[in-house]
Amino acid sequence: MGQTNRTIPANGPKTLKEAYQDFFTVGAAVSAHWIDEAAPTLLAHFDTVTCENEMKYNGIHPHSFDRPVFTPGKKPELPPFANKEPFLHPSLVTNFAPADKIYRFAIENGLGVRGHTLVWHGSYPMGAFEQLTPEELRENLEEHFRLLAERYPACFSWDVVNEAIDDRPGGYLRDTVFRQKLGENYLPELYAMARRHFPKQELVCNDYNEFLPEKREKILRLLHTLKEYGVVDTIGCQCHINAHQSAKELEDARRSLDLYAKTGLKIHITEMDVNCLEWGNPTAPLPADIEEKCASVYDSMFRLFREYREAIENVTLWGVSDKYSWLQSFHNDARQPNFPLLFDKNYQPKEALLRVIQF
Ligand code: GLA
Repeated sequence: MGQTNRTIPANGPKTLKEAYQDFFTVGAAVSAHWIDEAAPTLLAHFDTVTCENEMKYNGIHPHSFDRPVFTPGKKPELPPFANKEPFLHPSLVTNFAPADKIYRFAIENGLGVRGHTLVWHGSYPMGAFEQLTPEELRENLEEHFRLLAERYPACFSWDVVNEAIDDRPGGYLRDTVFRQKLGENYLPELYAMARRHFPKQELVCNDYNEFLPEKREKILRLLHTLKEYGVVDTIGCQCHINAHQSAKELEDARRSLDLYAKTGLKIHITEMDVNCLEWGNPTAPLPADIEEKCASVYDSMFRLFREYREAIENVTLWGVSDKYSWLQSFHNDARQPNFPLLFDKNYQPKEALLRVIQF
């Protein structure tokens, strides 16, 4: 099943950024692999970019060593260190070229850059950090922050510790190597460290499933703590949502934006996409009206975003065209092709884009 591309009508705004110029900036996650082919669409429609993976720890410091096989729920088995030095000093192992490519493209073309992300349990030398002492890990992260601050000073915000909340019922903070080594107060500590290195940038607390009531309560609790320390400016709502969104889910999104706005912090929608496959059933054929469903979810969500324009500063899509999206390969199974973004695989506008820019 494909998607029908659409022609942007002659009356009204011609581009996404034009439609939202009085509301918030609009952004897209990009990869160094395909930024060149996406450039015309990026420049026409978007104000900001986010590196999909290039500024993450493993993107900037691609250590090669025998990693343990990661089995969810089990502690990684640690390979012995052949040489500890590079893990003590991340400046010894760097690959800035892919992030530089995106950063330079943005700066040369007047686009803003969201920094993503300083610390994440999904991107660090697994098996190595586990062998550092707390002090060694602190020094390592401090050096990592310093390197990014020096190299990418124009980023207007940084996601500090990505996805720190535990999803399990009753749980609060995710059990990560950072928490284990640095202690229960590790989040205020790392945000304060970020504040020292990025005094002019907005510091963002970014997470997923942020509209689910139980998760939202935990996020609000964390934001409250970080606010007491004065080390957070912005809430990052990833907004990975589904085309099969229910009325209750939409209502939860509204209630969440309302509560987040009431914290007085700014809001960034950081990774929006609309998965057209059913969760847990990615091989099921897509229903005939999937394009309409997806467009309608985009429409409802952007209406909400417009309502909360006072709090929302930036809305970023997690990709540009359906050709490249993590949702095409997630789980790496025999899934159906997915259509989660605003432009089709040939960078042509989709119905979802038209609905979002015509209001
Ligand atoms: C998380 C991360 C992103 C990206 C997406 C999916 O949401 O924050 O950087 O990796 O998963 O790819």
